Amino acid sequence: MKLRGRVLSVASECVPLVKTGGLADVVGALPGALAPLGWEMRVLMPAYRALRARVAEAPANWTEVWREEGLWGGPGRVLLGRVDGLEVMLLDAPHLYGRVGGPYSGPSGDWSDNPQRFAALSWVAARIAREGAGDGWKPDVMHVHDWQAGFAPAYLAYGGSNGVGSVLTIHNIAFQGWAAASLLGELRLPADQYYPGALEYFGGLSSLKAGLVTCDRITTVSPTYAAELMRPEFGMGLQGVIAARSSVVAGILNGVDTTVWTPEGEPLAYSAKAMAGKAANRAELCAAFGLEVPGPLAIIVSRLTDQKGIDLVPQVMPDFIEAGGGLVVLGSGDPVLEGAMRDLAARYPGRVGLRIGYDEALSHRLFAGGDAVLVPSRFEPCGLTQMYGLRYGTLPVVAAVGGLADTVIHANPAAISAGVATGITFHPTDATAFATALRQILALHAQPKLWAQVQRNAMQQDVSWASSAAAYAALYQGLVA
Ligand code: ADP
Ligand code: GLC
Repeated sequence: MKLRGRVLSVASECVPLVKTGGLADVVGALPGALAPLGWEMRVLMPAYRALRARVAEAPANWTEVWREEGLWGGPGRVLLGRVDGLEVMLLDAPHLYGRVGGPYSGPSGDWSDNPQRFAALSWVAARIAREGAGDGWKPDVMHVHDWQAGFAPAYLAYGGSNGVGSVLTIHNIAFQGWAAASLLGELRLPADQYYPGALEYFGGLSSLKAGLVTCDRITTVSPTYAAELMRPEFGMGLQGVIAARSSVVAGILNGVDTTVWTPEGEPLAYSAKAMAGKAANRAELCAAFGLEVPGPLAIIVSRLTDQKGIDLVPQVMPDFIEAGGGLVVLGSGDPVLEGAMRDLAARYPGRVGLRIGYDEALSHRLFAGGDAVLVPSRFEPCGLTQMYGLRYGTLPVVAAVGGLADTVIHANPAAISAGVATGITFHPTDATAFATALRQILALHAQPKLWAQVQRNAMQQDVSWASSAAAYAALYQGLVA
């Protein structure tokens, strides 16, 4: 394969090293998806405490390719290594990242120096992009993700890009990297750029805005979210900034790792051609949670947050359960929503199963055993679980927003007669519309032939990275040319 170019990917999470959400899946999947197209990608991310320990276990596997003495209170170095075929560059700066806790927060909430912590990541990214790493590797494009890397395009632009193009991908506009205006100098940003058309943001600073106004291309993770972001209901304050740059905005749908997410790879395997195994998975799942469900068995695998519309679930479940349905929930997050899920499970023993926590293996069992996956999000940049649902013939019931609207074909009469329906979508995201959607899934489930047809359609959808990787490759090519 002819090498078309090199890309420095900059992010705060990456599977298989650190994950709090879908961002990590995407950052971890892109290098493998782009390699066959001739794009060599390295991922630069912080060396959190657990990653430092990993380096210490096998120091010979890591090479120092960058060093900088003054990195917001201490020195930093970048270590290059390979993890599961991925070329990773870890920014090792223990005074910033070597802490007990998560990537963004510790025992008492968000780290108060998050602006400095992620400015450091962005600073080093921009310098490596401009100057090349110590081993001679020099990127053609710097591709940064979300607010954590938002200052990187700004540092690159203000310090001279040396011909390197920059791409900023928005995975979730709700997180904007807020910082006080008084930090401008400390964050190494030029004072003359502090005005509304550039760095100023509602009297303060936002690393995401800084990236949006200085990068060469903006992408987000679905075409519908790209359009939504320019509207006040979804842009969360940044709609004007994004609309002003609409000529460089693109929506590129995420893919999923189809080697990991395949019903043929599950212990009780099944496929579109041999669906019998799905019933065995369902029986196993019901047994594990002590459920007996005559109608459709719904599942939810999610962060339990306001974004995901989880508060609507207790409102719509009584009717669904009355009609024969059941539910298994796997998730964690907001304590209030965790409590609401506990109450629901306590109210409907034998019909509602619950596991509070994060469990990758169990999530596979839910997709393999469920009949339908519920995603009632208020906004959803892309969403991955509805795509797992498609792969597993676990029909998605989703709010028609963002990537959910772009990946599920609603089983209305036209789609059914055209033979293309893959699930149920509803709008707006409220209890009334959600309840209607659940009545539709109950009705569909009562027609076994039609249900099987929709399952087949769902399982045949292409949710791989193939077409999206080609779209990113074309984007990079445009910047190099
Ligand atoms: P977001 O990034 O907004 O949380 P996505 O749908 O893009 O939403 O990605 C969420 C990812 O995290 C998916 O891979 C999903 O399966 C996984 N996930 C979420 N909660 C859990 C959980 N409790 N256990 C296992 N996997 C989970
Ligand atoms: C964000 C979004 C989610 C998206 C993921 C990966 O976490 O909330 O919709 O799938 O990023 O792009």
